[in-house]
Amino acid sequence: MDNRRLVIAIDGPAGAGKSTIAKKIADILGIEYIDTGAMYRAFTLKVLRSNIDINNKDMILSLLESTTIVFKNRHIYLDGTSVDEEIRDNAVSNNVSNVAKIKEVREKMVEMQQQLAKSNNVVMDGRDIGTVVLPDANYKFFVTASVEERAKRRYKELIDNGTNNITYEQILEEIKQRDEIDSNREVSPLRKSPDAHVIDSTNKTIDEVVQEVISIIEGR
Ligand code: DC
Repeated sequence: MDNRRLVIAIDGPAGAGKSTIAKKIADILGIEYIDTGAMYRAFTLKVLRSNIDINNKDMILSLLESTTIVFKNRHIYLDGTSVDEEIRDNAVSNNVSNVAKIKEVREKMVEMQQQLAKSNNVVMDGRDIGTVVLPDANYKFFVTASVEERAKRRYKELIDNGTNNITYEQILEEIKQRDEIDSNREVSPLRKSPDAHVIDSTNKTIDEVVQEVISIIEGR
C-alpha cells in the first residue's frame, strides 16, 4: 500500500454500527466512504423484484450479468436508479446473506470495490474488507457488539423509520440467522483479520467509538 494514501477497512457483524462510524470517520478525515453492504443489498433487491427463487443460483447469475450497481457520493444506484431507501427494507435484510454467499456474486462485487479504492483515500465497511477486498489497508478495524445490543439498535432503527409490524424478538432471531450465514459461508466469511483492531461498541456511544478509531489512526 502506498504510504501517501489512507485506506481504512472496517468489518464486523450486522448492526454493530459500522456504517455510522465509517461515515463519521470519512467526514473527519475528509476521505470517501464506501458501503459495500449497500452493493450486496442493491443486487438482492433486484433478485427479489425479479421474483426469482432465491435458491436458483443459475437464474441469479444470469440476472447479475445484466445488472449495474454504482456506489457514488454515498448513494447506491441499481441500473441507474437510486435505491437508498429500498435496500433497507426488511425483506432485503432477510435475503441478502443468501445472495452474498454466492461466489460469483462476491467476485463481481469485490472487483468493483477494489476499483473504487484504487486511487482514492477511502474508508470502506463490510464483512471481508480487511481480509479479502483491501488486505493491504493502512488501518483495519473489527467493530462488534453483543447480539442483543445489535438487535436493539436495528429494532429502534426500523421503528423510527415507521415499521410497526415487527417485534424485538423477531429482529434478534433475524440477526442471529444473518450472523450464522455470514460467518459460516464458504467464500470469504466474516472474519477478523489478524492485524485488525477490535472495538466492542456494546456500551459505547458512536462518538466514543469514533474517537477510539481516530486516536488509533492518529497514533495517539
Ligand atoms: O452491512 P449490511 O448489513 O448492509 O450488509 C448486508 C449483507 O451483505 C450482510 O448480511 C452480508 C453481506 N455483506 C457481505 O457479505 N460482504 C460485505 N463486504 C458487505 C456485506
